[in-house]
Amino acid sequence: MKRHAQVVGWGKYVPAKVLTNEDLARLVDTSDQWIRERTGISERRVAAPRETTATMAIQAAQEALKMADVNPARLDLIIVATATPDYAFPSVACLVQDALGASRAGAFDLAAGCSGFVYALATAAQFIQTGAYDTIMVIGAETLSRIVDWTDRNTCVLFGDGAGAVLLRPNADGGGLLSFVLGADGSGADLLILPGGGSKHPASLSTVEERLHYVKMDGREVFRFAVNVMGKAAVQAIKAANLGLGSVDLLIPHQANLRIIQSAAKFLKLPPEKVFVNLEKYGNTSAASIPIALCEAIENGRVKPGDHLVLVGFGAGLTWAAAVLKWGPVAAPVPVPWWKTAWHRMRGRLYAFRSALIRLWRRVDALLGGGREPG
Ligand SMILES: CC(C)(COP(=O)(O)OP(=O)(O)OC[C@H]1O[C@@H](n2cnc3c(N)ncnc32)[C@H](O)[C@@H]1OP(=O)(O)O)[C@@H](O)C(=O)NCCC(=O)NCCS
Repeated sequence: MKRHAQVVGWGKYVPAKVLTNEDLARLVDTSDQWIRERTGISERRVAAPRETTATMAIQAAQEALKMADVNPARLDLIIVATATPDYAFPSVACLVQDALGASRAGAFDLAAGCSGFVYALATAAQFIQTGAYDTIMVIGAETLSRIVDWTDRNTCVLFGDGAGAVLLRPNADGGGLLSFVLGADGSGADLLILPGGGSKHPASLSTVEERLHYVKMDGREVFRFAVNVMGKAAVQAIKAANLGLGSVDLLIPHQANLRIIQSAAKFLKLPPEKVFVNLEKYGNTSAASIPIALCEAIENGRVKPGDHLVLVGFGAGLTWAAAVLKWGPVAAPVPVPWWKTAWHRMRGRLYAFRSALIRLWRRVDALLGGGREPG
């Protein structure tokens, strides 16, 4: 029987700081009414100065490990989907690997814009289906507040920060990831772009003066693209899973704009109760939006064992991605006893200490001449 990748743990992290539409109206020429009517967003979360994509990804991943009660040393692979890594390199995934103490795991980041989480899920599922790996952490994490131009009303009202993670394990009883569709159209690369800081426009005084380190977006064109692609990609994934539209129990779409979500729901003939929406609280958190929404759908009792969930996203690239997940027997958060929470917290501290010791040892080893060529 085929080994499907099944979600056995999940976790999310959103920063504490809330930025409301009224707060934004004090920064740029906009209004609560315009933002709600045109996007459906009421507020978003903004990372504190010490928070980064990695710190949020770590929190979400620790939550997922705790709920599944899995030792991080059992992780085979960590994939982080993000468009806002802490650094160009090392990857966020490596920072997560170190903090979790996932000593056996490979780690890499995946860049597919807001479709990144579904791309990462599909990628991870291949390792599980082939039998290469058993335990994989897939994370979507973003600190978009650091690349948003807070003087540009066209973009700054849309985005927010946060992270969501799922832990995947094999399942042979027919549950898990049943299908996926990945797509790209690079001819639309300029429609949603962060032009500065890469090899084309390396950071310089002029790139800063020209504000090239901020998101540039043609909102109308991205909107047209999204409306066109969301429903179609979802239908393709549903067909690839050998299901009909009537079998969909919950659509968990990328949370970018309520009007885009509604048009996808209409295309799929889904009533509102079969569509999960939480963008009013978080705005568009890019690669983090689908895993955060998945976590909240579970928390809110919207996911039952055996349900068919359709995840669908679109984003920079341009990219799109859809997947069908058959939910396994673990449908609701299992209450974690206090001692397990304490143990997971202590283990996190121990791994931080271990990491510091390894770094210290690397210095001592270098001083002692370790690794030098003989002679
Ligand atoms: C950005 C978006 C909300 C704009 O909504 P819209 O209904 O398409 O609005 P338009 O672009 O037609 O602009 C209408 C007017 O509102 C203005 N406007 C734009 N942002 C505004 C804001 N925050 N407050 C007030 N007015 C605003 C525009 O300047 C424009 O004014 P003009 O007609 O005088 O030029 C919408 O196009 C959208 O959601 N696009 C997709 C973006 C997205 O999802 N990006 C992420 C992809 S992962």
